[in-house]
Amino acid sequence: MNKSYGVNELRRMYLEFFESKGHLAMKSFSLVPHNDNSLLLINAGMAPLKPYFTGQEIPPRRRVTTCQKCVRTGDIENVGKTARHLTFFEMLGNFSFGDYFKHEAIAWSWEFLTKVLELDPERLYPSIYGEDEEAFDIWTKEVGVPAEKITRFYRDPETGECDNFWEHGAGPCGPCSEIYYDRGEKYGCGSPDCKVGCECDRFMEVWNNVFTQFNGDGHGGYEELENKNIDTGMGLERLAVVMQDVDSVFDIDTMKAIRDKVCDLSGKKYHVDEMDDVSIRLITDHIRSSTFLISDGVMPSNEGRGYVLRRIIRRAARHGRMLGINGTFLAKVAQVVIDESKDGYPELEEKKDFILNVLTKEEEKFAKTIDQGLGILAEMEEKMQKEGRKELSGEDAFKLYDTYGFPIDLTAEILEEKGFSYDDAGFEKCMEKQRQTARGARKETNYMGADADVYNDIDSDITTEFSGYDKTTDSSEIAFITTDSEVVDAISDGDRGSIIVPVTPFYATMGGQQGDKGIIETADGKFVVEDTVKVVGNRYAHVGYVKEGMIRAGEKAKLIVDPAGRMRTCRNHSATHLLQKALREVLGTHVEQAGSYQDGERTRFDFSHFSAMTAEEIQKVEDIVNEKIAEGLPVKTDIMTVDEAKKTGAMALFGEKYGEKVRVVSMGDYSKEFCGGTHVKNTADIITFKILSESGVAAGVRRIEAITGDNVFAYYKKLENELNEAAKVVKTTPAKLVERLNHLTAEVKELQSENESLKSKAAKDALGDVMDKVREINGVKVLASSVVGVDMNGLRELGDSLKEKLGEGVILLASSNEGKVNLIAMATEEAMKKGAHAGNLIKAAASKVGGGGGGRPNMAQAGGKNPAGINDAIETVYAELEKIIK
Ligand code: ALA
Repeated sequence: MNKSYGVNELRRMYLEFFESKGHLAMKSFSLVPHNDNSLLLINAGMAPLKPYFTGQEIPPRRRVTTCQKCVRTGDIENVGKTARHLTFFEMLGNFSFGDYFKHEAIAWSWEFLTKVLELDPERLYPSIYGEDEEAFDIWTKEVGVPAEKITRFYRDPETGECDNFWEHGAGPCGPCSEIYYDRGEKYGCGSPDCKVGCECDRFMEVWNNVFTQFNGDGHGGYEELENKNIDTGMGLERLAVVMQDVDSVFDIDTMKAIRDKVCDLSGKKYHVDEMDDVSIRLITDHIRSSTFLISDGVMPSNEGRGYVLRRIIRRAARHGRMLGINGTFLAKVAQVVIDESKDGYPELEEKKDFILNVLTKEEEKFAKTIDQGLGILAEMEEKMQKEGRKELSGEDAFKLYDTYGFPIDLTAEILEEKGFSYDDAGFEKCMEKQRQTARGARKETNYMGADADVYNDIDSDITTEFSGYDKTTDSSEIAFITTDSEVVDAISDGDRGSIIVPVTPFYATMGGQQGDKGIIETADGKFVVEDTVKVVGNRYAHVGYVKEGMIRAGEKAKLIVDPAGRMRTCRNHSATHLLQKALREVLGTHVEQAGSYQDGERTRFDFSHFSAMTAEEIQKVEDIVNEKIAEGLPVKTDIMTVDEAKKTGAMALFGEKYGEKVRVVSMGDYSKEFCGGTHVKNTADIITFKILSESGVAAGVRRIEAITGDNVFAYYKKLENELNEAAKVVKTTPAKLVERLNHLTAEVKELQSENESLKSKAAKDALGDVMDKVREINGVKVLASSVVGVDMNGLRELGDSLKEKLGEGVILLASSNEGKVNLIAMATEEAMKKGAHAGNLIKAAASKVGGGGGGRPNMAQAGGKNPAGINDAIETVYAELEKIIK
């Protein structure tokens, strides 16, 4: 008889044992993987430790031990149906990062099982990876296990291909050696072949030692790790089954307490009706998973981890109904999960209210539609039965998903219970259509921007007060959190969303000045603010994503604006005020602001003016602004009534309606404007100002784009680099660049003309001694010939010089040039008198080279596409002249 230890006791014994072997006992990592896109949820003890195995990060100690929360949903269909499958489990593990290897790992696993837990060594059976002789020798010679008790695993015994290799997706992996426990015949299948590896419940794998020495890419590629590591895993629930000598994981102390609660709530007994047992087990497992997932910040949604959670909560809710439970009940089950596990996971107790709340809200949401949905599905099934169909249409499955909140897998399961299925492709088509509509809608509304619908769901008196005119950090309390579609209680690692607080130093986009960026920190989380926008109800939404941990409503938060970004925006905004005034001075008082935009990069100012600014005007404006910066004018803000403000001569926005009180920003006596934005304290803080462009945007509206401060230095630095590069290309210094370029341009010109004359010389050479080719037709000299690669200009020049040599006569030249044909014909006075006509000749010739053309009697040209016809063209000219010249 084994000593019976509780789950919580076993966890502690294990961690203490490995602490005594020099291991650092670390708290379980979150179920949400950090910086690991290969996993949706942590599924093994080693998963959060991957960077230590691969050497990307230095472990806090080279020996570590954990009891890790794990979720695996690959077998979710079987959960409940069998008493073996679980979606949530705890994995005990001891790890070596380049420290000890096989000897110690094997010896300690044996020591813990046989000495600490005092399991009967006779009942323990190790297995090894096919031909891992090293492990075999350690087991037999060092531990003293008889050779015949060791099972060698082969994938293919015939070829000797070994098996027993642990890997889970991409990451560290390697051959392993397990330890099985013989639970005795009463759990066996009774077959004479029953042995380690048999599917029945007799030989139970309790321990897995993985000799991690590879890094797998997930596609069959392996790289040897620099260090040899140890990764071990022991399912805590399974170990408890062995120690407590119970039928299944659903009978161990902590699980039984949950199971009993489900029985209590439903008035059912376990082991009376198999259908009920399926539901009892399913709820027991699923609520355990849900409780842990929520405690790690996963929130129900339609994507990723959130979908896994939504699916299991809704499955559990449905099975509650099957057991006859009325009303919401999941939180009551979760309460037991928390009580049973808080010993190892104090965060469950700390976040209890939150967990129960999220569960109940999701359950309520589903409860509103589940009965209706189930009714509709039953009708659909009836119809299918009548029509003899076995497959639910994609549209119907989508309707259940979209209108009644049935995760598609839930619909599939319900259908499967009746022997039906659904049209997967049809469903996906509907989903895609919906996604596209959503994407289209989002384009108009700007993602979680000021006009996103989600902000209409917040009804409360909370408004946001801006505290950031004088500071960039402040503390407040998280009032609301949203995703892009829902108001939620929390968001976690990687989730996008927005946060609303009552007091914030973050400036929200307004009057052209863009919202601040920065960080919001709570005790457990870090949220990156990418944008701040004003939303309905006088609230500011900080839009971004969770970088670390989790953010919950009601928590205290520190709000930190990126000070450098804020400073740059302030410079650009203050410079814009100076710019407006300078434009009015240089161009006239018809200049009015027509639009403006400032962020940390630049300012864009649109204004009324009726012609393009001259270079001098632009320079003058830029100089004035820089003068005002150099003068170091103090920047002051005052709140006053609109009338008072107007009396001071402050510039208001043309056509803008103001409230009773306005804020006026003055820069010395130079500029005074109505403005709600943030500014530098003194114009000298702008440092410097540079106009990048002046252009027209509409009739009578011009636009200036400009930069300030360190952005100007960066701009000049970039120009300088480009100048250096350019100088390098032409092998000189920036100072001599212009001289060098002038010189090069002259050289190019010279080369071009040289090239021209060479080309025409080459054309003449190509023609050879053409005068040999002159024929006489009825007393007229005719020169018809072809050359290669000469363009029309070249042909003309050539024709002219041949004409000179010929005196009187007819010339036809053809040239094939890159697949095209150029033709030219010329006739002198005498030839024309005798009837020759260049235009007619060229027409006849061009028809032979697939082209057309024409021209005057003395000179004509044409093009064609068929160089092969050139000889024909020449012959045609002779033939034509024979006919014409009398
Ligand atoms: N990583 C190994 C497993 O999960 C120990 O079985």
